[in-house]
Amino acid sequence: MSSTIEIAVVGSGYVGLVAAVCFAEMGHQVTCVDNDPRKVAALQGGDSLIHEEHLPELLQRYRNGRVTFTTNLGEATAKAQAIFIAVGTPQSDTGHADLSYVEAVACEIARHLDNYKVIVEKSTVPVYTNEWIRRSIERNGVDRKMFDVVSNPEFLREGSAVSDFLHPDRIVVGADSERAAEVLKAIYAPLTDGSYYDQQGIIPGRFSSSEPPPLLLTSTKSAEIIKHASNAFLALKISFINAVANLCEATDANVQQVAQGMGLDSRIGPKFLRPGIGYGGSCFPKDVAAFRSVADQMGVDFALLTEVEKINATQRKRFLSKVRSALWTLRGKRLGVLGLAFKGDTDDIRDSPAIEMVKMLLGEGCSINAFDPAGMERSEAVLPAGDKLKYAADAYAAAEDADALLILTDWPEFATLNLGKLRTALRYPILVDGRNMFEPAVAAQAGFNYYSVGRPAAHPTRDEVA
Ligand code: UGA
Repeated sequence: MSSTIEIAVVGSGYVGLVAAVCFAEMGHQVTCVDNDPRKVAALQGGDSLIHEEHLPELLQRYRNGRVTFTTNLGEATAKAQAIFIAVGTPQSDTGHADLSYVEAVACEIARHLDNYKVIVEKSTVPVYTNEWIRRSIERNGVDRKMFDVVSNPEFLREGSAVSDFLHPDRIVVGADSERAAEVLKAIYAPLTDGSYYDQQGIIPGRFSSSEPPPLLLTSTKSAEIIKHASNAFLALKISFINAVANLCEATDANVQQVAQGMGLDSRIGPKFLRPGIGYGGSCFPKDVAAFRSVADQMGVDFALLTEVEKINATQRKRFLSKVRSALWTLRGKRLGVLGLAFKGDTDDIRDSPAIEMVKMLLGEGCSINAFDPAGMERSEAVLPAGDKLKYAADAYAAAEDADALLILTDWPEFATLNLGKLRTALRYPILVDGRNMFEPAVAAQAGFNYYSVGRPAAHPTRDEVA
């Protein structure tokens, strides 16, 4: 039988908020702390602030009950057995992670430590952060026996964060003390002993009580490296398939067939082999840079990561050339753009390859009519609408009278668009697909000159044009 644990989660961003409501869903009592009073008020009122499946329903179920929101870190620390630090670790100019928010939180926690507590790194942090947190707490006069610092990295993806949290491939706990490890094991017991999956109305996912997820116990440093190494490896997989896609383009091969052939090897696996205009988001670009910076600092040659970044940046430039060669010249062209978010199923535009493409195209003198199912509000804040950039009500309106239509984000709903209707809306039937959303033959049958990534271009036959 799992027991209820008093938890504080510091930071109510993607990781913090999801962790807070999911710990409540697992039966724990949670105080979620944020230093922004407006955010706290919004969360107390039931506004989940981010576009994330299952988050509104869990927030509704637990807010002001099993999860309370506050700006008072001191009070939250005083009553918690475990304090999860889930604040931002932005990228500094040199690529390494800026840990000043983590440090500030550690110092504040130190001021309120009056009995044994476990402090948990949940934010993505470089190796050795654990030791720095410990040192700053000790520097603030706290006895070493009063606390332990553990690393418990998060592997959730935006868009499926809640089900990733409750149905994790693995739970990694990096702890150098038995006592701290026991607290973390107790927190995750509802998942690891399977009892959560026996309850009614749970968030559905791949695990069940007969097959619960594994918990991997490691040293703190190993856990810190697991997080960075996992993200860097996934980014590497994407850059690898993008480089293969470029080779396919040069040889008239089809990257989709190549990826399928590679992915059937169980040692390689089919996931993260989708080529496109490169990876983006708040994690991969920042984490690859931070991991490279850690290796540099430690005197380890990890030039492979520099190549991963280089291929990723080149992918955008190649796409721009593809648009140019489909249209001959760019200046003065009207383009319809589908997708602004960094990937489908999210409203997040941080480090979005699509936003970068839009900026590049505007810089080339194009005018753009863009549509994204969820990311337009955030886009408007960084790219305000004006003469050259408009936001459309739907995909068909974005295509209206455009010289070509570009797909920049893999929103699943784009794959079900009516190609005939799009073609009629466009001035010229040109579709440049940066996310390989359509089968080339299908797009050509619908009358399109279709260009995608790593697959031969497809053109309509005379009958199809008619
Ligand atoms: C990523 C990881 O997948 C999570 O495991 C991790 O916890 C998270 O970062 C984090 O560190 O917080 P996320 O950033 O939500 O999650 O997005 P992904 O689904 O991994 O996609 C990242 C980028 O790669 C997107 O721009 C996506 O379009 C691109 N991508 C992904 C490809 O271009 N090809 C693929 O095959 C897969």
